[in-house]
Amino acid sequence: MTTGATLEPPAPPAAAAPLLTAERLHVTFPGRHGADPARAVDGVDLDVRPGEIVALVGESGCGKTTLARSLLGLVRPTSGRVTFGGRPLDYRGRALKAYRKRVQLVLQDPSGSLNPRHTVYDAVAEGLRIHRYGGNERAAVAEALARAGLRPPERFFLRYPHELSGGQRQRVVIAGALVLEPELIVADEPVASLDASVRGEILALLLRLRDELGLSALVVTHDLGLAWNIADRVAVMYLGRIVETGPVEQVLTAPQHPYTKALLSVLPEAPGEPVVLTGEPPDPSRVPAGCRFHVRCQVLASGEAERAGVAHDCRTKDLPVLSGGGEPQVACHWATAVTSDA
Ligand SMILES: Nc1ncnc2c1ncn2[C@@H]1O[C@H](COP(=O)(O)OP(=O)(O)OP(=O)(O)O)[C@@H](O)[C@H]1O
Ligand code: SF4
Ligand SMILES: [Mg+2]
Repeated sequence: MTTGATLEPPAPPAAAAPLLTAERLHVTFPGRHGADPARAVDGVDLDVRPGEIVALVGESGCGKTTLARSLLGLVRPTSGRVTFGGRPLDYRGRALKAYRKRVQLVLQDPSGSLNPRHTVYDAVAEGLRIHRYGGNERAAVAEALARAGLRPPERFFLRYPHELSGGQRQRVVIAGALVLEPELIVADEPVASLDASVRGEILALLLRLRDELGLSALVVTHDLGLAWNIADRVAVMYLGRIVETGPVEQVLTAPQHPYTKALLSVLPEAPGEPVVLTGEPPDPSRVPAGCRFHVRCQVLASGEAERAGVAHDCRTKDLPVLSGGGEPQVACHWATAVTSDA
């Protein structure tokens, strides 16, 4: 030892500098059939830190996949920016290719992600070939398959997707991502197409990869139960915005936003009656003024927001974009009012 400096223990994920960030991200698509433009992602700040699993949850059409694709550089944001390792994403060909090696996408449907005419070996080696890997391809493929839980890996080399179970196919897709030694995985509904019995195994695999490799993940799901099982942190998305975020235990055991409460109330194990959301299904071409959830909000409909003196704000006053950090945050006039009164 040459100095008397105190050695700091490694920072826990919540305190480490973010690996990936979205900053005031907007993705707007041209309106279909004469409709106004669709604000699929409408002002999102989001961080993913090293070794952290963040679940992005919300009902169908709320913008999860569009946000995920923009974080991967597959969709260019209309405004705002994505940074990785503190640097803004460079959308030029070679830089983007290098980025896509570091951040890998795992899709929902393993059958759709795998070419039925490619063997497992070729499916996993494909990424190495695209990125002109200079090392021992066979060893890298074997290691990735083993890490994804397909052991002994050589037994799977010459198999075709139709010869595998759904869970094994999803493991092959994960191996195809792992072979490039990414720092972060974006998994879009990774277990949605799998039987309940194998879902747990795939989720356990993602947790093991985080613990063993320090791999970070953004897991996109409409299933809050899944978020509970896997995530360190959760971000709840509604109509293009994050409306509530924080550590998973906090958000899911003490939700503040009426939308989060409604999503949780329909889980089979939830106590009490499920909250039935009224009003029109959300449409990103017609984002309501004021709080974007107000046309469906059970707290506004029941008069609770009126009693808290915020009903006018609910209908007229937009809410600030939540910061992407780890602390619990909610975008709701009523939740803020009742918390500050308590
Ligand atoms: N290329 C596109 N052009 C126009 N609108 C689009 C396009 N892609 C997505 N959208 C719209 O943007 C909104 C968000 O879609 P997105 O696929 O991101 O939602 P999601 O939360 O992933 O939904 P799901 O849970 O069903 O996968 C939807 O209303 C969708 O119709
Ligand atoms: S701001 Fe008002 S309308 Fe929006 S979620 Fe909160 S209570 Fe409901
Ligand atoms: Mg989607």
